[in-house]
Amino acid sequence: MSHENALVGVKVVIDAGPTYEDIDPVRFLGNRSSGKMGFAIAEACVAEGADVILIAGPVALATPGGVACRVDVRSALQMRDAVMKVIDNADIFIATAAVADWRVAEYSSRKIKKNASGAPVLELVENPDILAEVAARDPRPFVVGFAAETDHVAEHAREKLERKKLDMLAANHVDENIGIGADDNALELIWPGGSETLPRASKSQLAKTLVARIAARYHARKAT
Ligand code: CTP
Repeated sequence: MSHENALVGVKVVIDAGPTYEDIDPVRFLGNRSSGKMGFAIAEACVAEGADVILIAGPVALATPGGVACRVDVRSALQMRDAVMKVIDNADIFIATAAVADWRVAEYSSRKIKKNASGAPVLELVENPDILAEVAARDPRPFVVGFAAETDHVAEHAREKLERKKLDMLAANHVDENIGIGADDNALELIWPGGSETLPRASKSQLAKTLVARIAARYHARKAT
């Protein structure tokens, strides 16, 4: 593993993977995130010498060597609590998790049975936006968000960067062969005043380039 030292002594918190929102003891709402991109970013941060805390949703991935601490969670509320517990000491927060936008208003502790009156109607409530909450803190870490877009990638990403007041946003172009769940990815990197396309590559190669850009902008901001 190469050691470039761009993040020595820098504390990085990364959230990764999906969240599962339980409906009853056997069913949940989830999504197709594998966590691969977030784990690759954790590995790339370690290679640069960072102290990494990884908050992982339900994923089938081994912890990258050198990660100081991994916290496994299931739901968006648990992920939020785990992030907030450690964010005070963080220098950089990278939100790669595909946090479920909604959870069921009321969890049923009994399995919901089929019955003659037809399909149940699930009432949903919005989950807290962990990324926006971290970005709203004062003082706050250097905040990097992700966005999955199927169209008008740069336009949507710029709007999200400004709305959530981020230092950097990495937009995935999602289709069946790239992005969520796949091994390859391509990213449109956006920050206030600039942008760069990181062309299609393996998630591990892309993570190295992304972390180099994050380190550069983090140090540039600190110097101002
Ligand atoms: N995010 C979060 N908490 C949420 C939802 C999203 O922290 N409850 C973070 C994700 O980790 C990611 C970014 O916000 O870094 C994605 O933002 P979002 O606006 O949810 O993106 P999309 O799902 O792409 O949004 P849209 O509804 O515009 O498709």
